[in-house]
Amino acid sequence: MSARHFLTLLDLSADELAYLIQRGITIKNGLKTHGPTYTPFSNRTLAMIFEKSSTRTRVSFETAMAQFGGHALFLSPRDTQLGRGEPIGDTARVLSEMVDAVMIRTFSHAGLEEFAAASTVPVINALTDDYHPCQLLADVMTWTECRGSVKGKTAVWIGDGNNMCHSWINAARQFGFNLRICCPEGYDPRHDILEAAGECVTLVRDPAEAVKGADLVTTDVWASMGQEEEQAKREKAFAGFQVTEALLDLAAPDAIFLHCLPAHRGEEISTTLLDDPRAVVWQEAGNRLHAQKALIEFLLLGKVD
Ligand code: CP
Ligand code: NVA
Repeated sequence: MSARHFLTLLDLSADELAYLIQRGITIKNGLKTHGPTYTPFSNRTLAMIFEKSSTRTRVSFETAMAQFGGHALFLSPRDTQLGRGEPIGDTARVLSEMVDAVMIRTFSHAGLEEFAAASTVPVINALTDDYHPCQLLADVMTWTECRGSVKGKTAVWIGDGNNMCHSWINAARQFGFNLRICCPEGYDPRHDILEAAGECVTLVRDPAEAVKGADLVTTDVWASMGQEEEQAKREKAFAGFQVTEALLDLAAPDAIFLHCLPAHRGEEISTTLLDDPRAVVWQEAGNRLHAQKALIEFLLLGKVD
């Protein structure tokens, strides 16, 4: 049987994703109660290829492998033959001979797909220019922990129609919630991704209207990794799209705020928003560890329970 990959949230069924969220919560509770005593990955290795910077993703995957009794290898194109032009497909075949799974953070989603097509071990998307599905596992897990089932609820995306926004669209499809997207003109998400989501996703231009009565509000940086030279232009385009405490006041009284982090205080969020009790971003960041443990366990061992 060929390996299962996790390149977008559409690679797993809705049932499998729902399982992962519950499994992440169970794994988290087990860790709290018993410590890191569950070690299903003894002698297993995860290769982690990072072509972009990372704090949360690297630490969560590396810690997940260590706590599960396995090992993680940090590989950067600066020190591997990938950076000297060895073909992606050759690298995938070589790593498949040695490691049990590969995690990749890169620019081109097509490059990630090329790697996965040649890999005989599971490949995990740890962020491309187009998607960040691992973050959404942690985000939906956090929302579920805070407020129960997300089915039929309403989330609002404010800001850039970027990789995170695309993964929120796929999450709305797969987890059955409604998503309102509020971007300045010219920064909408990709049309094909939006269209495939059908009626569960709507575009609203005015932030105040978008957040009205919503159960969850989220945003992300205005200039993603690789767009640094557009910073000034984007600051102008996104003026008026900052998430503030006053904007959150228009959402439901029990609304929560998520941000994948890193955050730029004073740009996409007010300087004090992360101190507001509605912001659950530290729990969200911590859940990367538990949700990804559930993911790797599922890809390597199948459902466990
Ligand atoms: N949210 C997220 O992926 O963070 P890092 O870039 O620090 O990994
Ligand atoms: N959209 C951001 C997410 C960082 C986790 C980026 O791609 O830089």
